[in-house]
Amino acid sequence: MAVDGPAGSGKSTVSRLLASALAAAYLDTGAMYRAVTLAVLRAGVDLADPEGVTKVAHEASLTCGTDPLAPSIQLDGDDVAQAIRTAEVTSAVSAVSAVPAVRQLLVARQRQIIEEARAIVVEGRDIGAVVAPEAQLKVFLTASAEERARRRSGENSVAADLTAADLARRDRLDSTRAVDPLRRTDDAVELDTTAMDIDTVVATLRELVTTRLRSS
Ligand code: DC
Repeated sequence: MAVDGPAGSGKSTVSRLLASALAAAYLDTGAMYRAVTLAVLRAGVDLADPEGVTKVAHEASLTCGTDPLAPSIQLDGDDVAQAIRTAEVTSAVSAVSAVPAVRQLLVARQRQIIEEARAIVVEGRDIGAVVAPEAQLKVFLTASAEERARRRSGENSVAADLTAADLARRDRLDSTRAVDPLRRTDDAVELDTTAMDIDTVVATLRELVTTRLRSS
């Protein structure tokens, strides 16, 4: 199952709960782009140097745990679950994820993880369009810009207006980049979560999974 959408649309929470309810695995592809970004920052490589960024991406050893109750990510053997959520990584990740060779590398790893799983919920920006176009169910989650900023500022204890500005910048970069921008595919079910709580979103998607599996 592919879950795509912009930052703050509820993808992570919803995908984890859904995977857990379905006894499926879970993959956060954003965490992979963040881990490569952390490696680039640690190596002191210029974000405007795509060859340097690509070299770091190839040398980085990433391990992603797919348990929805305890998702984990390691970079060169270190647990980086916290380190990839800093403001520094967040502001650099769009530049790193716009490098075509980085995407190529991570998409190949994501497909490998998907192949090894019996059932998996994968969240990101290009899952339905690029990583898993054959997914049984594609969902595109949205929410108003104000609501997304409110959710993110609640998570990070950062002022809502600062979060809104950062989200707007990332939305623009992630949606307008040349390679695999964020977009909804025609076969994806779009769900606007602005006025929905998490439990309602998960229940709606479970219903959708049941209907889809019944008809396939
Ligand atoms: O989901 P997130 O905010 O943690 O993702 C971090 C960044 O990674 C996001 O700004 C865009 C990029 N990303 C991507 O380009 N493709 C994906 N499949 C997932 C994330």
